[in-house]
Amino acid sequence: MQTGTQTFRIGPIEISLPVVLAPLAGYSDLAYRRLCRRMGCPYSTTEMILDRCVSIRGRQHIALTATADDDHPTAGQIVGNEPETMAVGARRICEKGFDVIDLNFACPVNKALRRRRGGYLMGEPARVVEIVRAVVEVGKELGRPVTLKVRQRNKTTDGEENFWRIAQGAREAGAAAVTVHARSVEQKYSGPADWDFLRRVKEQFPGWVVIGSGDVLTPESALAMVRQTGVDAAAVARGALGNPWFFHQVRDLQAGRSPQPPSLAEQRDVMYEHFAGAVELYGPQKAPAIMRKWGIRYARMHPQPKQVRMAFVAVKTPEDWHDVLKRYYPRCD
Ligand SMILES: Cc1cc2nc3c(=O)[nH]c(=O)nc-3n(C[C@H](O)[C@H](O)[C@H](O)COP(=O)(O)O)c2cc1C
Repeated sequence: MQTGTQTFRIGPIEISLPVVLAPLAGYSDLAYRRLCRRMGCPYSTTEMILDRCVSIRGRQHIALTATADDDHPTAGQIVGNEPETMAVGARRICEKGFDVIDLNFACPVNKALRRRRGGYLMGEPARVVEIVRAVVEVGKELGRPVTLKVRQRNKTTDGEENFWRIAQGAREAGAAAVTVHARSVEQKYSGPADWDFLRRVKEQFPGWVVIGSGDVLTPESALAMVRQTGVDAAAVARGALGNPWFFHQVRDLQAGRSPQPPSLAEQRDVMYEHFAGAVELYGPQKAPAIMRKWGIRYARMHPQPKQVRMAFVAVKTPEDWHDVLKRYYPRCD
């Protein structure tokens, strides 16, 4: 079993820590990825983007596909259900400057399932493999590794055959890595993730890069997943919402230091920077609404979480945001 100190590779890309930032719709945008990177995150993924929408012009789509010099390596994740449209989406993802093309076959939200995308395709292994094959061709042409995100099963009562057919087929088609969310599509995000399943996947594919997802809620649990299951890396999702320090804390643990929570002054500096990143991405009109949900997450770390949460909920302008920071996050604490 691994120790949690190893590096791993996705194609030619060497990744310095076996803990990465998972894709998070509504959260893992450029502003947050940059913060996480500065705190030691070695690799991240955009939220899922519909294959046909990668190149749509319009502020929201431009923000979804934004990347920058200090945002590498990052995968651009696309979702769709036709090999042809996914191949076109993959090409656009490469043109945007992402380092890896990631394919989503895991999303459990009803809208995606109704449109036969994301987790719906866990029930159609042959189609998934066809899509992977088509996108790997694009990846080869443009020099980008292709990865995929899947779930353990479609329905909780299903067997695992579809998973193994997808995994085997994607591996043979040339996918460089697979991220496995160890829950069924039906479970969405509830119930415990089946880490023993991750152990079995890695045992079955010892030469393939496997990234585990599910219940990585603390820095300790990230390293425990790697140690207990043998996966190459653990993806942190809900555990990193409002906690970009997660990656710093994992590196502390690796170095034998006990992870320190950030001081109020450190929290303020990060929230200040996060807001500036949101303004850059979405503009000053939209940034306050985007940042309210982040304020709610950040407030959980504050000694007066309820008051601070309410103050963030009331934010309507950039001035409001900065007033909350001044009021509750003193420079010296
Ligand atoms: C709010 C939210 C948004 C998510 N968006 C995506 C997404 O766009 N693409 C994806 O592959 N997974 C997405 N996920 C799934 C996470 O990447 C992760 O697999 C899942 O939350 C399990 O990890 P956890 O139990 O440690 O949170 C999302 C999860 C949450 C909670």
